[in-house]
Amino acid sequence: MCGIIGILGSNPAVPRMLESLKRLEYRGYDSAGVATLDGGKIDRRRAPGKLEALTSALAQDPLPGNVGIGHTRWATHGEPTEANAHPHATDKVAIVHNGIIENFKALKDSLLADGAVFEGETDTEVVARLLTRELNNGAAPREAFQATLAQLEGAFALCVMIAGEENLMFGAREGSPLVVGLGTGENYLGSDAMALAGLSNRLIYLEEGDWVELSRDDYQIFDRANQLVARPVSISQVAATMIDKGNHRHFMQKEIYEQPTVVAQTLGRYLDPNAGTVRLPGMPFDLADIPKVTLVACGTSFYAAQVARYWIEKIARVPVEVDIASEFRYRDPVYADGGLALFISQSGETMDTLAALRHAKEGGQHVASIVNVLGSTMARESDLVLPMHAGPEVGVASTKAFTCSLSVLASFTIALAEAKGQIDAEAVSGYVNELERAPALMAKILANDEEIEAIARDIATAQDILFVGRGIYFPIAMEGALKLKEISYIHAEGYAAGELKHGPIALIDEHVPVIGIAPNGGLSEKTVSNLQEIMARKGKVVLLSDMEGGVADDMYAQFKMPSAGDLITPILYALPVQLLSYYAAVEKGTDVDMPRNLAKSVTVE
Ligand code: F6R
Repeated sequence: MCGIIGILGSNPAVPRMLESLKRLEYRGYDSAGVATLDGGKIDRRRAPGKLEALTSALAQDPLPGNVGIGHTRWATHGEPTEANAHPHATDKVAIVHNGIIENFKALKDSLLADGAVFEGETDTEVVARLLTRELNNGAAPREAFQATLAQLEGAFALCVMIAGEENLMFGAREGSPLVVGLGTGENYLGSDAMALAGLSNRLIYLEEGDWVELSRDDYQIFDRANQLVARPVSISQVAATMIDKGNHRHFMQKEIYEQPTVVAQTLGRYLDPNAGTVRLPGMPFDLADIPKVTLVACGTSFYAAQVARYWIEKIARVPVEVDIASEFRYRDPVYADGGLALFISQSGETMDTLAALRHAKEGGQHVASIVNVLGSTMARESDLVLPMHAGPEVGVASTKAFTCSLSVLASFTIALAEAKGQIDAEAVSGYVNELERAPALMAKILANDEEIEAIARDIATAQDILFVGRGIYFPIAMEGALKLKEISYIHAEGYAAGELKHGPIALIDEHVPVIGIAPNGGLSEKTVSNLQEIMARKGKVVLLSDMEGGVADDMYAQFKMPSAGDLITPILYALPVQLLSYYAAVEKGTDVDMPRNLAKSVTVE
């Protein structure tokens, strides 16, 4: 949530900051702003709404200066107005912030008592005014920054400029990510590698409690106890050119159609099709000794975890617990001795998932994470990282990260089952062959996209849509409903098909489309019976299945899926539900890549 960029440079900062903010907009797009130092003086431009509003404001009223800080906001405290947009500034300082200052009320009261006047309602403005008070009291910049940090409680990444100091910038990390980028005669700060792509690939990930003082040629990092510390420099693989829509209308569309490639890329890292084996990266613990797996994640990643529960329990016969990260640590979970806690996160920064990971670590669990962003905090704090190799996912609605997470989870399940002696080498090889078929089958589904597009256009006028499935397709139903509601704003729910008659069937009438996910075999007959019950109540059933002839003549529509083995069907069925949502949103004319009220990286609780 919220994207930060800071440039201590030798060329005009604004065009470069706008480039970075464009790459950071996925973190929030309620407002955007930049401030620069020119001739020692701070000036800024801010605009509510998406970055293009700021770009227009700057075109009309340019901002010179080689030193600058910029921000794209996901509102926490205060509405997305210009007054609440970052940077927050006084005549002495300008600040951008990602996170929440929890004690802002007490700090604000003390500043008000001192006569400070606030222009907006944000918690961040408190930090700008605190720092100004320290400087007004005669502290040197470094001491003033340290003294300010000491007063803050909560989660924050901060980037700070001080008037008159054209070769100085401060950053701090406490709970929200911040990265230092090293240049030649220039240095930078950013929320992540994406922010700094195009500026630097030499990055230093600050650790919790770290703060940094930058000049153009140097940097010093201090820990929470203000001790000078050394942090490793890593080389980022994220290139500015990777973040491009290509010929597609939306990032989400590009990311949906990329799935055969990125799933193949991901599976290629875990499977050896010639040997018919699975290889996980160097394991710091023995899978054979794992008594229980706890899977924790949020949103779409949580639905990937739910799919994996079915796989792990069925194939590896290891007990699995799955929880939403925001609930997990507060219910005081009971850990099994030597258990494995596995966290799934595209960004690797989701605050609730990260907090759950730390809880599990303290609880003595082996901690593993499946992440897409390799330098992310979760990756750095895990005993074992299983990367998903999806490439940058920019569309706010997660698509390729879902199918790539599932690909990793399927590979992990096979390795666990083999280590536990539940399956032999022949069965492993069978599963590997099956997984290897997934990319080609995905391409086949995507090639029939006109059919699903037509169905999506038809149902886009509905007010409510239900997705139903049984067993391993129940999480796919929930993922379909999440995808649809977040980008098309149509109310949607995902249900276990057998659960409908316990209440939700009351919603069914001729206006309610119901998407039935029912691959042939397994529980499909039972799901079909549930779909019949819906049709008997005039519900408009859209069937996603490889069954011949659908379920009844009065069915509204069927999207014919290819037949495939049980392991890969959940991966395949993710595609039509993504396409349905995408095309319904396009039909409704919503902002597919930046749906209202959302942000891609959720770094607040
Ligand atoms: C939905 C979506 C979100 C994320 C969730 C977790 O399309 O994208 O539900 O899946 O915010 O994000 P990560 O995976 O980054 O932890």
